[in-house]
Amino acid sequence: MGSVNRSGLEAIETASRDEITALQLERLKWSLGHAYRNVEHYRKIFDAAGVHPGDVESLSDLAKFPFLVKSDLRDHYPFGLFAVPRDQIARIHASSGTTGKPTVVGYTQRDIETWAHLVARSIYASGGRAGDIVHVAYGYGLFTGGLGAHYGAERLGCAVVPMSGGQTEKQVQLIIDFKPRVIMVTPSYMLTIAEEFERRGLDAAGCSLEVGIFGAEPWTGAMRDAIEARMGIDAVDIYGLSEVMGPGVANECVETKDGLCLWEDHFYPEIIDPDTGEVLPDGEEGELVITSLTKEAFPVIRYRTRDRTRLLPPSARSFRRLGRINGRTDDMLIIRGVNVFPSQIEEILLNQRAFLPNFLLEVDRAGHLDTMTVKVEWPPAGALSGVSVETAKAELAHHVKSSVGISVRVEVVEVGTLERSVGKAKRVVDRRPKG
Ligand code: DLL
Repeated sequence: MGSVNRSGLEAIETASRDEITALQLERLKWSLGHAYRNVEHYRKIFDAAGVHPGDVESLSDLAKFPFLVKSDLRDHYPFGLFAVPRDQIARIHASSGTTGKPTVVGYTQRDIETWAHLVARSIYASGGRAGDIVHVAYGYGLFTGGLGAHYGAERLGCAVVPMSGGQTEKQVQLIIDFKPRVIMVTPSYMLTIAEEFERRGLDAAGCSLEVGIFGAEPWTGAMRDAIEARMGIDAVDIYGLSEVMGPGVANECVETKDGLCLWEDHFYPEIIDPDTGEVLPDGEEGELVITSLTKEAFPVIRYRTRDRTRLLPPSARSFRRLGRINGRTDDMLIIRGVNVFPSQIEEILLNQRAFLPNFLLEVDRAGHLDTMTVKVEWPPAGALSGVSVETAKAELAHHVKSSVGISVRVEVVEVGTLERSVGKAKRVVDRRPKG
């Protein structure tokens, strides 16, 4: 970690705002120049907008630059937005794209180190300390949750249990046997683990866990209270997204639990009006836009996260905070921690050529877990592909599981039951409790 003062914090975490903005400006100039020099897409869109990295004199000049959006990543699949030669890429991750192709991101060795450093900082802010055992129940793999948490915990000097997601009985057994002090997991899965404790007649609140670091999906203050009471821990919020890095872009401080401290020495945040693209003043809610200041392999300049939130003044650290993530400006759903776009289901349905192309996704919560039902209609003349209804249902569920990564129930309804679009099709009914 950088230079650390007596409180265990890095100097930059308690620096003056002037020091922080000076560092941001210097790094912003580097990042814009790096993107412009090494990524054709940035060169094209900067030139088309008549802006040049060399013209930037203050942080507010960034607002003149064009946005990067998720479809830009799809259009340059897989490696077209990488800013370093292929042989300098040390890691590749991916998340859901809006259709068949995932969104791919790359890291240099130095990017991996920065990421580990920021997750270590996040765990420290959450109350984790060197020497702790950290149980990681975020999924390992292309998803950034597991490996991101893992490297950060190791960097802080913790012992990591790389449990990954699933196998709930084993999760509980290892928590009892290994006695971790910290757990990193999605909040909904934490509740499932708590239930498993209770099912086995074990006292969850009395277990070794003291700190939980929860993110990757929206959760509420009420959920925090429920988790803290049931597990007897401090429940702290962690935010991030693959396109920008992974977990650890922002993290709450356990001493205040008042929103997510955004690690502004590595990321520059803006809040925009999602309709006009205009930058909004701090405090107003809108869409979060992030510019990376130090990333080498995959610089993001004004990436539209689609997450709705607001920027709050510094409290426990010198960095500004994000309010709780308050929904999205697109139609992405997060089902058991997996990002799902209705367009992915549509593509599968159309390729399968068994059902009519009309569909509805019904999202519910059973206990603490999200469920999704895909409602489809069977063509009067039978499937175009010649299979039976039962086979077609099983095939659809299988394709969704293998390409999107979630289990769904398929329900076939009478032709004409699903509302026909008269303009913007309504594809989702989300009945999960809010707030
Ligand atoms: O979910 C990275 C992550 C892993 C964050 C583990 C925290 C913990 P993606 O799969 O790319 O990356 O999904 C990113 O998840 O744009 C938000 O919509 C949502 N999200 C992430 N953290 C939070 C949070 C990881 N704390 C998308 N609260 C983001 C609400 C969150 N939503």
